[in-house]
Amino acid sequence: MSHLSHLEQYEIRDRKLFFAGVDTTGLARQFGTPLWVLSEDLVREKCRRYVGSFARLGVPATVAYAGKAFLTTGFCGLLKNEGMGLDVCSGGELATARAAGFPMDRVIFHGNNKTAEEIEQALDAGVARFVVDNLHELRLLNDLAGRAHRRQAVFFRVTPGVNTHTHSFVQTGHLDTKFGFGIENGAAEDAIRLTASLPNIRLVGLHCHIGSQLFDLSCFRAAVDIVLGFQNRLREFFPAHDWELDLGGGLGIRYTSEDFPPPIELYVETLVQAVRARTTALGLPMPALWIEPGRSVVAPAGLTLYTVGAVKPIPGIRTYVAVDGSMADHPRTALYGAVYSAVLANKADRHPVGTFAVAGKACESGDMIIHQALLADPEPGDLLAVFCTGAYHYSMSSNYNRLRRPAVVGLSGGEARLLVRRETYEDLLRHDLDPYA
Ligand code: LLP
Repeated sequence: MSHLSHLEQYEIRDRKLFFAGVDTTGLARQFGTPLWVLSEDLVREKCRRYVGSFARLGVPATVAYAGKAFLTTGFCGLLKNEGMGLDVCSGGELATARAAGFPMDRVIFHGNNKTAEEIEQALDAGVARFVVDNLHELRLLNDLAGRAHRRQAVFFRVTPGVNTHTHSFVQTGHLDTKFGFGIENGAAEDAIRLTASLPNIRLVGLHCHIGSQLFDLSCFRAAVDIVLGFQNRLREFFPAHDWELDLGGGLGIRYTSEDFPPPIELYVETLVQAVRARTTALGLPMPALWIEPGRSVVAPAGLTLYTVGAVKPIPGIRTYVAVDGSMADHPRTALYGAVYSAVLANKADRHPVGTFAVAGKACESGDMIIHQALLADPEPGDLLAVFCTGAYHYSMSSNYNRLRRPAVVGLSGGEARLLVRRETYEDLLRHDLDPYA
């Protein structure tokens, strides 16, 4: 159907929605709703396209998937098998990677306010690189690495001052941001000069991440030019050989048919060409590259299944269609005004009859899943599939209204298996203490 033509791995068979070769109505029956579904096949394909693009261009690179988009122990296993690296940004993400036995020489540790405890944990785990965000962290890391008898390899996160065209909450490359050292205001230069006096820090390169859900490759090119130009000014502080450059994540995806992100291959080629051109012009050696894609690896591989409950027409205004999930499992509409596509999975062959306001079951008006969903005639008991929910859904979910988090089911080769089990009321009550009992 035309309003779904931008989506991957879906099919309509026997009037029903199949995703990654699996009947979604069967998944709902087997695992219940709401349900997060993840096509592991599609994630693998994205990983291979990333890793393969660098290999074809003959550039040594680590594709360090950004765990903040979606991370579980089982998912770490998939990433490991695909030759991916991993970007973790908290003790919790690090603990997940460690529990899964993820190779630490492919792990990079992020965060704009790493605690001493987290730094110690990451040193103990032996992560490959720290991405240092600020002076406080730099000094603390130098101390703690010294105590651990380590000379830690680090990147410095710098903000090149590129203004991207995305939601302001997810812009990070400009000067007025809580992330990293500014280039324009001299903060990055001061930090690099200071490093010369810190015996336990080994600066191997710079890092920048300019934003998320980006479509315009010229922003990435601009960032490469600025960061490399800056690095060249301070080249005495970097190793002459074996230096590295981390260009963060940010490639956008097609939430709707009006989104037109460039393909992964073109994005990687653009980065590599930009780095090649600039380093050649400056007489610098080509660095080993790191990138940190999150959304573009996992978002299109996700689907949320909900059961329709109340259908409430407000004559002359709109019809609300309430589902059994909420902003607790689907936060991005309320948070960013994000837009999604959906279909009624049990009658996927029917053409849309109009737009409907799909609402969640949480107690506030802002709890919307999709403000204007093109749907066939929704009725109580229908199964609603919302596409592209693989990134920043499970990982940003909450227990608001004491709602239980749904299960996550992975689909691989037409088989379904649990990646995360559904929360129970016992899970919800587990941490409560009752001094009145
Ligand atoms: N590297 C760093 C340092 C990051 O901060 C991020 C995302 C990434 C990589 C991955 O970016 P991606 O490839 O996924 O665009 N919750 C928001 C997105 C926040 C992005 C935070 N940083 C959303 O749901 O749109």
